[in-house]
Amino acid sequence: MHFFTYNTFNNIKNLYKRWGVYMSKCDVGIDLGTTNIKIFIKNKGIVLKTPSVVAIKRNTGKLFEIGKKAYEMIGKTPDSIIVKHPVSTGVIVDYELNKIMLDELLSRVLNKSIKKARVCMCIHGLMTNVEIKALTETILSSGCEKVFLIDESVASGLGAGIDLCSSNGEIVVNIGGGTTDVALISLNGIVVNKSIRYGGQNIDSIILKNIANNYNLLIGVNSAERTKINFATVNLPKYSKKCILKGKDMITGLPKSITVTQCDIYNHLKAPVQKIVDSINDVIEQAPPEALCDIQESGILLTGGGSLMEGLPEFIAKKTGIKTRLADHPTDCVIYGIGKCFDMIDNFNLNFVKMIT
Ligand SMILES: Nc1ncnc2c1ncn2[C@@H]1O[C@H](COP(=O)(O)OP(=O)(O)O)[C@@H](O)[C@H]1O
Ligand SMILES: [Mg+2]
Repeated sequence: MHFFTYNTFNNIKNLYKRWGVYMSKCDVGIDLGTTNIKIFIKNKGIVLKTPSVVAIKRNTGKLFEIGKKAYEMIGKTPDSIIVKHPVSTGVIVDYELNKIMLDELLSRVLNKSIKKARVCMCIHGLMTNVEIKALTETILSSGCEKVFLIDESVASGLGAGIDLCSSNGEIVVNIGGGTTDVALISLNGIVVNKSIRYGGQNIDSIILKNIANNYNLLIGVNSAERTKINFATVNLPKYSKKCILKGKDMITGLPKSITVTQCDIYNHLKAPVQKIVDSINDVIEQAPPEALCDIQESGILLTGGGSLMEGLPEFIAKKTGIKTRLADHPTDCVIYGIGKCFDMIDNFNLNFVKMIT
């Protein structure tokens, strides 16, 4: 005689739970940025944020480090190790390495196969059809069920909380590591947009070059990025703080440290940041007259890590004459937007999402 015990009940419950997990669709969002990769899983949220950097062994091509650990190795590796960004200025430049990075990171965060997953990723205005095809094929080759593509500006606006269906146009700017995307969004779509291959990494290079030219001091790219994040400003500072930079004396080849002021850095950043303003002005100039009235009301919304540069909203507002605000959590807007997009895919047909099976 079989008694239905508490244990039997629990075993059946666990079995259903496991089946449920196996049978259920898994929605995975990937923001494959030039600087960072972020992964979202439905019902879990953002499960991974790490630099999109991979270190491999030169002789075998095998993975050595990935993410933050690989990023910290930049400029310090022996000859036997290569450190690379598989994505540059918003497009995949090393497909093999990109696949290694995606496979490794997805396996770390997914507790089941990607085979039943629906994956959503971003595309932007600078990508050619060939690049879009290559991106989707990389993901489809991992065996996932469907791939959805969403425009990066739309995803960042959605993630920042704008109402996409509204007829009140809004300008969304996404400043990443290697690209800046500007879009006028209204009624579920893009009215006018402009993308440039210019972002936070270009600002790092400007800082690095100016320190080399003016002080004969060679600093690494990571030091230049740290200087930008902790010290740079595009607003004329009232009290110019001082900072010590360490590097290599370009004349003697010996270690050297110098003191720079915030004003020095500010003077070198006005021209590069103007490039971002120019791309916003291009979109404003092409906007239909009715939409221009909306923009005056709704203003410009800044998203992406690059928009965190101190004084940037004020600088853009001054140069365009349009009020400018920084989104909450600018660095996460795109991945939040990708996540929100899954809820909408099931509800109605979205004209800004493309499905590839
Ligand atoms: N506080 C900050 N000030 C200035 N730039 C920042 C700050 N925080 C992050 N960034 C820059 O933002 C860029 C990364 O933003 P992100 O949106 O993650 O880019 P991507 O999507 O291209 O990977 C990098 O260039 C980084 O240096
Ligand atoms: Mg980005």
